Amino acid sequence: MPARQRPPSPARDLIPDRPDLGALRSAAAGCTACDLYRDATQTVFGEGAAEAEVMLVGEQPGDGEDRAGRPFVGPAGRVLDQALEEAGIERRLAYVTNVVKHFKFERRGKLRLHKKPNAEQVHACFPWLEAELQVVQPRVLVLLGATAAQALLGSSFRVSRQRGEFLDSGLAPRVLATVHPSSILRAPDEEARALAYKGFVADLAVVAEELAANAGGGAPRKPPETRPPETRRKVQ
Ligand code: URA
Ligand code: SF4
Repeated sequence: MPARQRPPSPARDLIPDRPDLGALRSAAAGCTACDLYRDATQTVFGEGAAEAEVMLVGEQPGDGEDRAGRPFVGPAGRVLDQALEEAGIERRLAYVTNVVKHFKFERRGKLRLHKKPNAEQVHACFPWLEAELQVVQPRVLVLLGATAAQALLGSSFRVSRQRGEFLDSGLAPRVLATVHPSSILRAPDEEARALAYKGFVADLAVVAEELAANAGGGAPRKPPETRPPETRRKVQ
């Protein structure tokens, strides 16, 4: 069905009237707005303080996150942690979440292999991310990889073309897209991996610089201008 005709996600009805992160997390724990809750262990909600100045958005929890119930604690999380540290961003001061809150996978013997969420699942889960943005109102929003960037900036957004620079978007005062840390792990050889990692750290350094330059101030926070995915403005 074309995106335009998608009915509002049933997740919308689960969002509390005056949400805080605790209430959102509890409500999301019982979400059945798409089929992904069936096979996953649990909802993996975002983690961090409502006062966080920076929000990082990934794609969906992986195998380790599904078991732990926490975002970015597996191999991709370790790459993220190391890159954040090298760039000079304290993870404990960031709010970390995903576009889709349940792990989507395919069984291969004992393994559970990551599967990319489809547009319907991204749409179904969007109210949770929207609510997280409304509550946290980060000053800097970092989109990790194509799923996050396209869910929030439009399907024509290309991370390869517009990474590492602040974008024109009403989602937050500063919005930047970069690669997903998993893409670094998938690099074909050591040299490519080192290069990809260096690029990731460089993009995060742009964020660190912005956070440091405007510590405790800078562009005022304001409610994010999110719209239903089908009407979201494309970034030029
Ligand atoms: N990849 C993601 O996008 N998010 C996680 O939480 C873990 C891996
Ligand atoms: Fe709900 Fe998102 Fe889980 Fe689907 S993936 S059931 S929309 S929390």
